[in-house]
Amino acid sequence: MSTTASQDEAAEARRGSFSGRRVFILAAIGSAVGLGNIWRFPYVAYDNGGGAFILPYLVALLTAGIPFLFLEYALGHRYRGSAPLSFARLSRRTEGLGWWQVGICFMIAVYYAAVIAWALSYTVLSFTRAWGEDPNAYFFGDLLQAGDPGVTLDFVPRVLLPLAVVWVALIAVLALGVQRGVGATSVIFIPVLVIAFAVLVVQALRLPGAGAGLDALFAPDWSALAEPAVWAAAYGQIFFSLSIGFGIMITYSSYVHRRTDMTGSAMVVGFSNSGFELLAGIGVFAALGFMAQASGVAVGEVATSGIGLAFIAFPTIVNEAPAGAVIGVLFFASLVMAGFTSLVSVLEVVISAVRDKFELSRLRSTLVVTVPCALLSLIGFSTTSGIYVLDILDHFINRFGILLVAVVSMVVLAWGVRALPRLRDHLNRDGSVPVRGWWIVLMSVVTPLVLGFVLVRELWAVLQEPYEGYPQWMLLVFGWLAALLVAVGGFVIARVPWRSQTRIDGYDDDEPVATTTPGRDL
Ligand code: ALA
Repeated sequence: MSTTASQDEAAEARRGSFSGRRVFILAAIGSAVGLGNIWRFPYVAYDNGGGAFILPYLVALLTAGIPFLFLEYALGHRYRGSAPLSFARLSRRTEGLGWWQVGICFMIAVYYAAVIAWALSYTVLSFTRAWGEDPNAYFFGDLLQAGDPGVTLDFVPRVLLPLAVVWVALIAVLALGVQRGVGATSVIFIPVLVIAFAVLVVQALRLPGAGAGLDALFAPDWSALAEPAVWAAAYGQIFFSLSIGFGIMITYSSYVHRRTDMTGSAMVVGFSNSGFELLAGIGVFAALGFMAQASGVAVGEVATSGIGLAFIAFPTIVNEAPAGAVIGVLFFASLVMAGFTSLVSVLEVVISAVRDKFELSRLRSTLVVTVPCALLSLIGFSTTSGIYVLDILDHFINRFGILLVAVVSMVVLAWGVRALPRLRDHLNRDGSVPVRGWWIVLMSVVTPLVLGFVLVRELWAVLQEPYEGYPQWMLLVFGWLAALLVAVGGFVIARVPWRSQTRIDGYDDDEPVATTTPGRDL
């Protein structure tokens, strides 16, 4: 083996890897299954045609979600680096795209941790239903102590403490490295999550009124299929939920042994994520059906998503349902587990990039990334104004971060550096799903056009009416500026040179360690 090849192999060993395909798949499922599945999907489906939504959802999954997952897997697996390193090895000019994704992940991590911290508190509160008779007043008044939209530095200890616990746990897991930290967390959490959630769904289905909830969720409104907004919702849901466009799947696939079936893995991950989403829809709407019946109103009046669903509707259900505490603990613990494994993956994108670029040790890169992120998160979200900033960041980063970087990447890879045939060949080398011209057409024309259309609609909507009526300055700073900063910042960092030991140019041509023992397979 040549010196360069052995240097590459040594560098790869230092980066760490998953012990086998099974761990990789579980980690990828752990990343995909998150808050998006549990608190976002059920309402998005209900609000966009109910049973009829399955059609745009499946079209989005099969024509954009899984093909884009193929693209990210091919990139990370062939070029064997974090998002910026993989892009740089493909073509130095594209490195900024990777850093843009790193910036997006940094921003997401700051607020995603806050939601997990609230869910952690609520897991404990569920035992005694400590939020009292009025969960709405408890959440906004007692827990968050939210004032008017704005920015304050009044810390709320009830949020500060669980948030600090979440960050300590994250730092510990991430410092342990790829296999012992990232991989092992999903190997433990994902089976526990599936069991806990399945028990929750069974409990919810036994509640009076559950059937009406399911009717509301699944009753098809076929006319919705004629509305572009419904198709836009399906594409937006798929990207966030599958964790694509974040650079996560590029990073994770760089930790997988060569000669692994990446396309088959993508199918397993994609369908597992959607399966969990469906399960969440059933559980959530069965519980909402009960809540509607108990309050004597239609399901539509109690159906909600996000913060409203988790921290207001669910505590209300827990208050009223037989064995409510069990439902509460299972629901909030599921949110914590699903959210935690997703957040680990989001942070791993940043750590891996910093580690590759600056050749830091695992521990150093973990601390360099997580300590500032934790401080920002603690300052930003354990203060009385946190919730508004969270809402704005979430809205803008999802649209003008994740979806935008996905469109730009597809256009650049397809038309700028013409990399799709190379990536397709890589997928076909060991993949069980044959990737042909259809994939190139989807990634170069169809999906960029559809996502471009979705983005223009979103842009139009926020320009017409300030999002949720927030003050313009807040939307400007925490929305537009944040989205712009990560994009511009990405291309600025890309100008910092790589360490001389890191091989960039010509990396994939000679496939340095292809002769080493292939990884264990499933
Ligand atoms: N895919 C993750 C989620 O659904 C980010 O929350």
